[in-house]
Amino acid sequence: MNGQITVKACNEIYSSEKVSVDYRDRAESALLDVVNRSGKGNEWLGWMDVPSGFDSDSYNELERVAKRLGVLDAVVIVGIGGSYLGTRALVTLLSDGVDRDAPEIMYAGYHLSGRAFDKMKRKLEGKDFGVIVISKSGTTIEPAISYRLLNSLMAERFNDSEIALRTVYITDPEDGALRKMSTEKGIDCFDIPKSVGGRYSVLTPVGMLPALIAGIDIKEIIRGAADVYNSVKNRGEAFNNITEYVAARNAMYDEGKKIEIFGSFDADFSYMLKWWQQLFGESEGKEGKGLFPVSADFTTDLHSIGQFIQQGDKSFFETMLVVDNPENCVTIPPDESDYDKLNYLAGNDIEFVNRQALEGTCKAHVDGGVSLIRIEINGVKEYSIGQFVMFMQFACAASGYMLGVNPFDQPGVEDYKRNMKHLLNC
Ligand code: PA5
Repeated sequence: MNGQITVKACNEIYSSEKVSVDYRDRAESALLDVVNRSGKGNEWLGWMDVPSGFDSDSYNELERVAKRLGVLDAVVIVGIGGSYLGTRALVTLLSDGVDRDAPEIMYAGYHLSGRAFDKMKRKLEGKDFGVIVISKSGTTIEPAISYRLLNSLMAERFNDSEIALRTVYITDPEDGALRKMSTEKGIDCFDIPKSVGGRYSVLTPVGMLPALIAGIDIKEIIRGAADVYNSVKNRGEAFNNITEYVAARNAMYDEGKKIEIFGSFDADFSYMLKWWQQLFGESEGKEGKGLFPVSADFTTDLHSIGQFIQQGDKSFFETMLVVDNPENCVTIPPDESDYDKLNYLAGNDIEFVNRQALEGTCKAHVDGGVSLIRIEINGVKEYSIGQFVMFMQFACAASGYMLGVNPFDQPGVEDYKRNMKHLLNC
């Protein structure tokens, strides 16, 4: 593996009696249950096989469709939860953002706000756009309504065969409305394997097709994920680091820290943290158990929840993402007048200042009594992000097992849907 994800807990956690051999042994055994497919919900472990199943045929098929949609002005990704967050995370984090040749990537189907939809509709006026609808079940109401609205927008401007060329589905291999429509209307359709649940699906076409359209090197993402899988299977470094994270967070939980705040000092990491939040929240929060996952964007949130973290109730612990070797690209210029008294920073890269903010924050939080875990990744590149995704999927599954829950179901999510359908007289 070139570059690893490492996990380091602060002295307070290491010296805690809770992160003892016992916790490490239990975390290790939970991780082995994942790898050996011997735990609860083991019919949902298909995400482990996604990197090895990614061959040149799968790449070519994605590339064929990506090239077709890649010439459009905009592509709207329609999906919610696991069919949306990881995709948006990859595109936000890894796309160039200023590539004039790539279509603008927009998102719909992740809310029911009429105002937001109306804004997007106006933004699409005059744009040659396409739609990728992502829904494993094909029945989720938010993406279904958005797709209906987008499809009627397309119908105002394009004929049936033009619409078919501008539309792609990503769904269950056999079931659901999208699968049926794809067959009947001749629309391209990619599979989300039966054995892969929504929040574990970002490495399937769910994340890979939009990423490819956005100009991201998806082969490198898959290579990073595959290396973590192989290292876990062979009990290498990734196995040890995942065990460390799982042991530390479960020990903190048992000590009464019921909230995990995951912070990062990379502004573009925001959606990746939201992906992490959903992954852990939906996987662990059940049967009256689970750490409540909260994401924090620093330094932004140092000016909001920073005060609480420093001096408020300590019912949480903090996990800090540290990017080793961040790209240095923006030098702070000198200013003759120096009204802001910042000339002492002139000539430094802004990432140097960011790093000092990170180290200063970690020290202040630990001094203030915060238990802190550092997760270090080697740069923000396709390879390291592929590693990060696979690392967290394993950590989440093993943490769920350690907690004694099935990390692959989400029975509670159905309750709001039932009430809403009842109110809508469905
Ligand atoms: O992780 C999950 O399973 C959920 O978050 C789903 O991804 C989300 O509810 C969307 O479901 P679907 O893809 O069936 O539309």
